[in-house]
Amino acid sequence: MSTRYWVVAGTALVLGLAGGAYVGSKWERRPSKVVDNFHILFHKNGETTFNDTRWRGVSVQKSPFDMWAYQELLYETKPDVLVEAGTFKGGSAYYFASLFDMIGKGRVISIDIEEQPNLPQHPRITYLKGSSTDPAMIDKVKSLLEPGDRVMVSLDSDHHKGHVLQELRLYGPMVSPGCYLVVEDTHMGGHPILPKHGPGPLEAVEEFLAGKPPFTVDRTREKFLMSFNRGGWLKRQ
Ligand SMILES: C[S@@+](CC[C@H](N)C(=O)[O-])C[C@H]1O[C@@H](n2cnc3c(N)ncnc32)[C@H](O)[C@@H]1O
Repeated sequence: MSTRYWVVAGTALVLGLAGGAYVGSKWERRPSKVVDNFHILFHKNGETTFNDTRWRGVSVQKSPFDMWAYQELLYETKPDVLVEAGTFKGGSAYYFASLFDMIGKGRVISIDIEEQPNLPQHPRITYLKGSSTDPAMIDKVKSLLEPGDRVMVSLDSDHHKGHVLQELRLYGPMVSPGCYLVVEDTHMGGHPILPKHGPGPLEAVEEFLAGKPPFTVDRTREKFLMSFNRGGWLKRQ
């Protein structure tokens, strides 16, 4: 066989292997219709899915996949403080506090603009009432942080782009290296649910990242295929 044959065959093999490595990479998944359709189905059936998910009897508006991803993330990174914007019924704060009980350290600061009745009480949780973007709220949160605290943030309040972008800019700098800034509900605005919602959390993340902050999107947290926070698990470098 000619030299030319071997050059062409060799090049094809190298390109094929490189392509295979990319396509076959565990975390580089192509968008999947099956996953999107399941995601849309899960959301449409909210009455029996995310609106009927409880931690120790308290409503949590998350998917069990994401709750498990949080569990792994908290255990791996062991933050001292988790700041949550968006308390709702308190189920997510209660879940994080219970995980911190098992880890043996950690506090939750949970913020909501509305007075929520019957919030679960737990010695690791501090509830704050007010808007997450109010300068007085930012001062209050900062006053509750101790020097040297490893801080993680979960943004799950108002899901409009403008609000989330403001939160990202206000709370991003509080996140410690190696810890996470989780932007919830990036699936809104047609990613793949609620196409009519308009620009939401994902568009806020895109604009935030365009400013080159020290965060990278960690796709490994989406390993269960369906995540409400697609592209929203941001790790601080
Ligand atoms: C999606 S729910 C939070 C769900 C909760 N984290 C969970 O996983 O169960 C959103 C909450 O954000 C609150 N909220 C809306 N706008 C807010 C704002 N500007 N600041 C703080 N909380 C806000 C709402 O009152 C609501 O309780």
